[in-house]
Amino acid sequence: MPLNSEKVKKDFPILKRGIIYFDNAATTQKPRVLAERLAERYAKSHANVHRGAYKMAEETTEAFENARQKIADFLSAESSKEIIFTRNATEAINLVAYSFGRKLKRGDRILTCVSEHHSNFVPWLRVAKERGLKLDVVELTANHNFNFADFRKKLNKKTKLVAVAHISNVSGYIYPVERITREAHRVGALVLIDGAQSVGHMPVNVKKIGCDFFAFSGHKMLGPSGIGALWGREEILKNMEPFMSGGEMIREVTLKNVTWNDLPWRFEAGTPNIEGAILWGEAIDYLKKIGMKNIEAYERELLKHALLKMKKLPFIDLMKMLDLGGRTGIISFNIKGVHPHDASTMLDQYGICVRAGTHCAQPFMNHLGVPSTLRASFYLYNTKREIDYFIRALKEIHKKFI
Ligand SMILES: Cc1ncc(COP(=O)(O)O)c(C=O)c1O
Repeated sequence: MPLNSEKVKKDFPILKRGIIYFDNAATTQKPRVLAERLAERYAKSHANVHRGAYKMAEETTEAFENARQKIADFLSAESSKEIIFTRNATEAINLVAYSFGRKLKRGDRILTCVSEHHSNFVPWLRVAKERGLKLDVVELTANHNFNFADFRKKLNKKTKLVAVAHISNVSGYIYPVERITREAHRVGALVLIDGAQSVGHMPVNVKKIGCDFFAFSGHKMLGPSGIGALWGREEILKNMEPFMSGGEMIREVTLKNVTWNDLPWRFEAGTPNIEGAILWGEAIDYLKKIGMKNIEAYERELLKHALLKMKKLPFIDLMKMLDLGGRTGIISFNIKGVHPHDASTMLDQYGICVRAGTHCAQPFMNHLGVPSTLRASFYLYNTKREIDYFIRALKEIHKKFI
């Protein structure tokens, strides 16, 4: 059944405060069920996980591990052992940078893209500097999409890791991650996909992509903040050293030595975000009920509705990112002659929340030749009516500035 956004909206109490929330690429709002489940948990069952032998500890461990299984199933992973809980996508990428990247040798190469979020750029820049590696950067096409020809040119036998986004948080373009992975594997490189912008917006199957690592965050897909995950191929994770050390990640400790726990716990030092993981599982149940294909199709409809109207406004600069297909509901733009921060403050007076800034993608901004942009990003609770109101607000704001 197609998505009924007016009905969906009712599940999100925060939207009753009269806002139009178009900052979903930054973080998403939470359905009521999350707050209800959290209150229930704190009232009925809470303990640390994997430690106590009493009933309530076992209940909590079971709920926590069930959430891991839900996340594994959501990505069509082979096993829940391949899901490592982290704080967010950033930490998941850093885990790979520290545990895998630091084992690379002088002269080895890492290949990333100019459009990456800082989370998938700065860790590689750091590792490259520390280890004497070469960081190669894929350029974009004329309309700022992933440049596959440039990728092929820069990929070679020395490339040990390719790290690219599934979807750009600036353009919303979906990158050809399956083709990227196939090419990278041909030269023996591993592939990390930054899925922060994809996994809550379309069906994702890590086996179909064929990649080796996939990083993502709960808060960008209706879940709580402070919880994210790294999916990694079991045979690769098994041979990686832990990222952080402490409780939970060990098997045996003596005064002289330590051995590591099994997957996935060897990468989860200390008490994890127990409630975060369990509520993330609830968010996944909610998304699955609506259906990821429905969400993807609906977002594309919203994007098309907005873009067709925005293209007609001569004072809107879409910076050549005009494609209606092959992207999710993210639009970066500027109002000519109006600073993005001023425009965002004025949109706020209409109750419209959009992002203004560099979107944690300064190399991409430099590539676009702008200091910053506005960004409207849609999700399942947004409506065409909201977009029409947004278009009217843009026209009025522009009028005030000329
Ligand atoms: C493409 C992309 N990668 C990584 C991140 C980082 O996500 P988090 O802040 O949840 O770690 C973001 C967040 O905006 C993003 O859009």
